[in-house]
Amino acid sequence: MKICRTKQEIRETIQAFRAKGETVGLVPTMGFLHEGHMTLVRQAKAASDRVIVSIFVNPTQFGEAADLDAYPRDEARDFTLLEAEGVDAVFCPSVEEIYHPQKQTTVLTEELDKVLMGALRPGHFKGVCTVVTKLFNITGADKAFFGEKDYQQLQVVKTMVRDLDMPIEITGVPTVRELDGLAMSSRNVRLTPEDRQAALILNKALAYADYELSDGRSAPELEQEIRDFIAREPRARIESVDVRDAETLQDVEGKITRPVVILLAARFGDVLLIDQRVAEPA
Ligand code: PAJ
Repeated sequence: MKICRTKQEIRETIQAFRAKGETVGLVPTMGFLHEGHMTLVRQAKAASDRVIVSIFVNPTQFGEAADLDAYPRDEARDFTLLEAEGVDAVFCPSVEEIYHPQKQTTVLTEELDKVLMGALRPGHFKGVCTVVTKLFNITGADKAFFGEKDYQQLQVVKTMVRDLDMPIEITGVPTVRELDGLAMSSRNVRLTPEDRQAALILNKALAYADYELSDGRSAPELEQEIRDFIAREPRARIESVDVRDAETLQDVEGKITRPVVILLAARFGDVLLIDQRVAEPA
């Protein structure tokens, strides 16, 4: 497995693959890898001749510097996991390698940026779009793989690729969970044992909402029921509960008749966790 720290190194590595007519799949990550990431890697491997994984904790998508500093990192362990999975190359650049000191260009999905997590974390998706565009341009990958866990991010990336005619195919991968149902996340290691247990309320709330949905609810009614359900867990501090059109992420008028996505964000201690589920009325 080749470890590339500069744009030139990764470009040369990929050029060698391309010269042999091989296709390239890209899995963008911020490292501290877990089974969720590894599932993306396996899908990328099944769908392309060569697999590149990027590891870059992107400062422009973090609102608070404290969040960025607290982001867990373990490069050596990440490399071991990726090597065992048969990844061809890892791109792990420094911040200076990625961002020009006089940078002035960004990429933004205007409507998706204003809703949900975009409204809660101004600038977050602009940071994601910009770095993902750069990774696509640097690698020239044929395909890229993103988790449904970060549902809005997946929709943002798909929309950006569509609107800007980027020559890359985006694949969404279903959320990978721990055995007890908690969505895998690099943030989970920061939970206290009590909060780790309490966090199970999120997946339970999604299952409950899916069940309730069969009963002709409107989105605001369902959101309130989910809030009441999560409130049973005193350690959970709800940040947002949203039931939206699964494709556009816009509000749903009246009774729910089409697929919706249920998006949850809650804090346990100082750790913000998210979870989601696409549901359809029976
Ligand atoms: P990161 O949080 O490291 O996630 C990398 C990819 O792994 C994302 O596409 C995310 O949705 C996916 N992922 C994380 N947990 C998952 C799970 N439990 N099941 C399935 N997929 C999961 O998302 C980012 O990094 C960054 O925003 C990035 C896209 C790399 C841009 O900086």
